[in-house]
Amino acid sequence: MAGIAVVGTGYVGLTSGACFAHLGHEVVCVDNDASKIGILQRGLVPIVESGLGELVRSGLSLNRLIFTTDLDVGLSTADIVFLCLPTPDLQNGNVDMSFMDAVSRKIGALLRPGAIVVNKSTVPVGTTRHVAHLLGREDVSVVSNPEFLREGNAVADFLHPSRVVVGGDDASAVERVAKLYDGTNAPVIMCDATSAETIKYAANAFLATKISFINSIANICEHLGADVRVVADAIGRDPRIGGQFLQPGPGFGGSCFPKDTIGLVRLAEDAGYDFGVLKSVIEANDQQLARTVAKVRNAVGGSLHGAVVGAWGLTFKANTDDRRHSPAVEVVRRLVAEGARVTAFDPTVSDVVPELSSVAVATSAIEACRGARALVVLTEWGEFATVAPTLVREVMAGATVVDARNLLDPDGWRAAGFAYQGVGF
Ligand SMILES: NC(=O)c1ccc[n+]([C@@H]2O[C@H](COP(=O)([O-])OP(=O)(O)OC[C@H]3O[C@@H](n4cnc5c(N)ncnc54)[C@H](O)[C@@H]3O)[C@@H](O)[C@H]2O)c1
Repeated sequence: MAGIAVVGTGYVGLTSGACFAHLGHEVVCVDNDASKIGILQRGLVPIVESGLGELVRSGLSLNRLIFTTDLDVGLSTADIVFLCLPTPDLQNGNVDMSFMDAVSRKIGALLRPGAIVVNKSTVPVGTTRHVAHLLGREDVSVVSNPEFLREGNAVADFLHPSRVVVGGDDASAVERVAKLYDGTNAPVIMCDATSAETIKYAANAFLATKISFINSIANICEHLGADVRVVADAIGRDPRIGGQFLQPGPGFGGSCFPKDTIGLVRLAEDAGYDFGVLKSVIEANDQQLARTVAKVRNAVGGSLHGAVVGAWGLTFKANTDDRRHSPAVEVVRRLVAEGARVTAFDPTVSDVVPELSSVAVATSAIEACRGARALVVLTEWGEFATVAPTLVREVMAGATVVDARNLLDPDGWRAAGFAYQGVGF
């Protein structure tokens, strides 16, 4: 079993660290956020992620999982060091590499002889070599091991991945990293670093393309009188297409797709290629957000100015507390910008959120609807589907619901007196 250090204990780093400990490795998780490390040392988990708390607590009790803010401590026993650092996008579309660069510069002097550094962050093609250069260590190999987990299903995805990708020039380092995943029984694709880095961008860009595609089909269905739910089900049964990521909605979001699609367009540009398809995917996504806002505007009579609107959901999808680049937040932000008075409810939000400071936060789904002329469903939390429309009707001033996730039962809501509008039917 290997000694592993994970630098950056966020959604990816914490999941990786806890799962590697579960697979029997000795793991030290390092983060420069002292409050996050304090929470983890107490056996608590600062994010919403199913099954993660149990793994953290069992790792701690077996002494296989340590949390620290001290890089020295983390790296002193590690044969293999994972970088799970943020790589957000900059205003100009480039990837912000400042976190990767700072840590790579710092750890060069701290790594044990013969250690392996693994990039798990999603990084521009060429970063493996770039990190090797910043480390300045002849005896240290750098390997790319992109992560494909989905928030909300992170532990299961990590322990049962569809595939593991490990890329690098040093075949023995690649094999040692691949071996860490022995307990997962996943097929391992070993390749060069450039291909590994490209695989991650290509995967996210393809998934984003599927979403923009089905959103476009949904919009066409609305004009033709077809039902996108039937269409998506039928095309998704074709194994060449596949049924996942064919649910229309308010647009894609989250911490990965928006930045990775823009990042790949920029990478292509740098390589002299105009990635027109992906540019259209990004544009279609923005139009989908605008279309959702327009449906709410129409639902309140054509102007949002002064309109009271209830919003269900703020996270970028269900079963996570992550609101980074959330389409729900973006739709609410646009509603507010047009003068709407929005009250939102999300199961993971108990207080006013900094990015929507003028939006009131309700303590229940029903309370979010009190006095509202329209309700908009923005995140597919299962509990919203169980709320009785008759109870919602009693507290609302109006009777329109814009279901941007096709989550509710249209017949039940119509029977309760609502004008129901879903996506694509
Ligand atoms: N979130 C996902 O679903 C997901 C999936 C696959 C890949 N990725 C990629 O993985 C990377 C990490 O994403 P994330 O969602 O886990 O990010 P995150 O923001 O949740 O976690 C990053 C962590 O790094 C820490 N950090 C920042 N600077 C540090 C430093 N100098 N020293 C130590 N720790 C430091 C932060 O405090 C934070 O805890 C990104 O490149 C992302 O694109 C994310």
